[in-house]
Amino acid sequence: MKIAFVGLGKLGYPCALAASLKGHDVMGYDIDPAVMNNDPKPYNETAEDGVTPINALIARSRVRFGTLREVVDHAEIVFVAVQSPHDPRFEGITRLPPERVDFDYRYVAAAVRAISEVVRGPKILAVMSTVLPGTLRREILPIADPRLQICYNPLFIAMGTTIRDYLHPEFVLLGVYDAAAAACAEAFYADLVRAPVYRTTIENAEFIKVAYNTFIGMKLVYANAIMELCHKLPGADVDAVMGGIKLATQRLISPAYLDGGMGDGGACHPRDNIAMSWLARRVSLSHDWFDSVMSAREAQAEWLVDLMESYPLPKGLIGYAFKADSNLTVGSAALLVLSLLEERGYQPFKYDPLVEGQSRDLSSLAPHVFLLGAKHRQFAELSLPRGSVLLDPWRFVGYAGEGVRIVPLGKGPKVE
Ligand SMILES: NC(=O)c1ccc[n+]([C@@H]2O[C@H](COP(=O)([O-])OP(=O)(O)OC[C@H]3O[C@@H](n4cnc5c(N)ncnc54)[C@H](O)[C@@H]3O)[C@@H](O)[C@H]2O)c1
Repeated sequence: MKIAFVGLGKLGYPCALAASLKGHDVMGYDIDPAVMNNDPKPYNETAEDGVTPINALIARSRVRFGTLREVVDHAEIVFVAVQSPHDPRFEGITRLPPERVDFDYRYVAAAVRAISEVVRGPKILAVMSTVLPGTLRREILPIADPRLQICYNPLFIAMGTTIRDYLHPEFVLLGVYDAAAAACAEAFYADLVRAPVYRTTIENAEFIKVAYNTFIGMKLVYANAIMELCHKLPGADVDAVMGGIKLATQRLISPAYLDGGMGDGGACHPRDNIAMSWLARRVSLSHDWFDSVMSAREAQAEWLVDLMESYPLPKGLIGYAFKADSNLTVGSAALLVLSLLEERGYQPFKYDPLVEGQSRDLSSLAPHVFLLGAKHRQFAELSLPRGSVLLDPWRFVGYAGEGVRIVPLGKGPKVE
């Protein structure tokens, strides 16, 4: 396929090389002329045949350069891989400043504006740059020429292994704005890689990119907390501990526990975190990660109470077992919500047919704002009093009764 890369930096150039080495007809353009005269690059790439100086790959590839107009004219798909930098204060090499800022999108915007100026007809544009959720719709779509058919295609590559990661991705991510653009990009990747394609909205794709990266940060903070604890505890060895954790491929290193819903519960999990927090304090762990986990769980419960409070109705819990289809309440995050409601002076209604051993007819109650505190199968259909609101953290209830509003949590307002 004829493709182009606009922005030939640490991401764009290796991808252009890889696509060219795989037989695609690739042109590239960079605003920095030095980038386009094939000056030696000071880094290596782990290609498919091992570590290869990128300059050797450049010598083997057939990437051609041109003016922006030539490159755009040439391509069926133009991939935009220009930088979206963060202020250097937020690189992570100094103490975290008290304030926070967004990435700088001026380069991406300037590139799209420049492409808009030279485009001569319908053209597919796949933006690869990393952006926070909502950015493309807010900053890029309004300035793009209407003939540009845009999709979002962030990559999950690590520096030094860009080519290998590009050609062997876990999945290809396409944020669909223009359906034809996404379909064309999908056809390109179908030829280039063997990986599932995950199509979603541009906002979700923007989210997945940064959620992926921050997940890695979360895993490392966790492993390093265990490392420091092991360092301080006689007889402990972080590699042996993490060796055991790595074997847990059904529940830990797996899709389990990755659905948004109520907080963790049960007889072991909250309790163990709190006990580990005690241990962390006893050995002066540099950051009490376990306390952070429990504080975040509590803050989520507080948020749910805030949501309930935003409806001027009596409060109630539908389900307060600690997990779906169980009658046990030990460590239940729903009971934590209940206690926070009581702390704020409410006398919440509560109902769980599994815990209580019997079903009740709720339809004659006064209207309430209810929180679905447990995802019991039987709650997929409910009969709640007319005029009630049901907050559903699992987006699972299909019907809650005539005149009952179901509010699925975790879905932002609709965008046009
Ligand atoms: N480098 C990575 O490993 C990596 C991985 C995933 C995502 N990303 C994302 O990809 C984007 C690019 O990252 P990078 O590391 O390649 O950045 P980079 O700074 O190495 O390269 C960006 C290139 O774009 C060029 N450029 C800037 N404005 C341009 C314009 N208007 N027209 C043409 N070229 C222009 C620059 O001259 C530069 O060569 C960023 O959003 C980054 O977050 C990078």
